[in-house]
Amino acid sequence: MAKKEVGFVTMGKVAKEPKEVKDIGVGVLGYAFMGKAHTNGYKKMPVFFYPPPARPRLVALCGRTEEALAEAAKRFGFETYYTDWKTLVKDKRIQLIDNCLPNNLHAEPCIGAVEAGKHVICEKPLAGTLKEARAMYEAAEKAGVKHMTAFNYRFVPALRLAKNLIDEGFIGKILQFRAVYLQEWIMDPSFPLVWRLRKSVAGSGALGDLGAHIVDLARFLVGDFASICGMTETFIKERSLPDDPKKKGKVDVDDVFIAMVRFKNNAIGSLEASRFCAGRKNYQRIEIHGTEGSISFNLERLNELEVYSKKDKDDRMGFRNILVTESVHPFIEHWWPHGHIIGWEHTFVHEIHHLVDCIVNDKPVAPYGATFYDGLKCQEILSAIEESSEKGKWVTLPS
Ligand SMILES: NC(=O)c1ccc[n+]([C@@H]2O[C@H](COP(=O)([O-])OP(=O)(O)OC[C@H]3O[C@@H](n4cnc5c(N)ncnc54)[C@H](OP(=O)(O)O)[C@@H]3O)[C@@H](O)[C@H]2O)c1
Repeated sequence: MAKKEVGFVTMGKVAKEPKEVKDIGVGVLGYAFMGKAHTNGYKKMPVFFYPPPARPRLVALCGRTEEALAEAAKRFGFETYYTDWKTLVKDKRIQLIDNCLPNNLHAEPCIGAVEAGKHVICEKPLAGTLKEARAMYEAAEKAGVKHMTAFNYRFVPALRLAKNLIDEGFIGKILQFRAVYLQEWIMDPSFPLVWRLRKSVAGSGALGDLGAHIVDLARFLVGDFASICGMTETFIKERSLPDDPKKKGKVDVDDVFIAMVRFKNNAIGSLEASRFCAGRKNYQRIEIHGTEGSISFNLERLNELEVYSKKDKDDRMGFRNILVTESVHPFIEHWWPHGHIIGWEHTFVHEIHHLVDCIVNDKPVAPYGATFYDGLKCQEILSAIEESSEKGKWVTLPS
């Protein structure tokens, strides 16, 4: 279908919205960091991915604090709000439930949602515990609904390009994988004991928060893990309680983990995540080395992908920096032309488009999207790293 050029901007396919574009009722659990990022995805998706597979209808938003929730529901454009997720799950106008709650509130609402016949997307890590993650996967499969774990970095154009290059053999057989995800935001000892630092709510620390992302990317780009050897450390063991700063509570999650991995295809690698790296804001760096070349990515430069090919002529060999902003690149035809960069929030628009397309057109969420199976495999690896750290030895992963 022809595209209409308006000045510099391609306005997408020039077509009236087909009559069959239906609404899909969406309920979002949580209205803070991720609740906002996902809601932005539902709102932007039909504007940029046009015509959309379905038009998200923002039916209901959920949280506990009514005043803040009501303000968020109004600001985001939801029709209603509920202070109890169980009420949202029962709302017949909703077909898709999006879980952006803390990790200990992933399993029960998601299982409730799929048992009510709703499609579901859940933030990472899939659950607080391995047992919960397995129950979520089994319940979603049994219900026969579409399920997705929100590993949004699979939807960064540069990382999808990396995946395409690896699949077409650009770097040959993968020998080594290296990933770090480094932040600095809890280095101050007076930073309070927020939910991310409590095992009963978060499940783990840097491991589940940041490590889950790079574990998933390792599986996405290289393949399944065979065995792992990891260590974790907690630098600050006590912190003030957020609502009573005079009292202290125990930090019972990791501040950092480091792991060595052997993949089933015999590649080897290392993974590291920390929230104690002074100067590092959101530094997710990935390097993959194969027999024919290398690929390197840095989330703080997310529009770029560095590639190196051994096939280049000797006199011009070196890393090339691809600005992944052309219409030939993954997802970019939906955005701006020629080098007009995109950002972190766009990954959620891509992810939501993929899920809604899979729901409406009965397509598989995998292999490009992460399913609850991928969430479960990631959780097995997170648990194995903890076990390895406790026992001081390598752990073999389930097949
Ligand atoms: N993909 C990514 O890049 C990424 C980034 C950050 C976080 N995450 C993941 O996203 C999830 C949410 O993290 P976040 O950073 O968005 O957390 P957050 O900013 O603390 O937001 C949590 C939300 O959950 C609500 N909530 C908490 N307990 C509740 C309950 N019992 N019933 C109903 N609502 C409740 C809170 O509202 P009230 O306080 O009013 O209840 C709040 O709106 C986590 O699993 C996290 O790992 C993913």
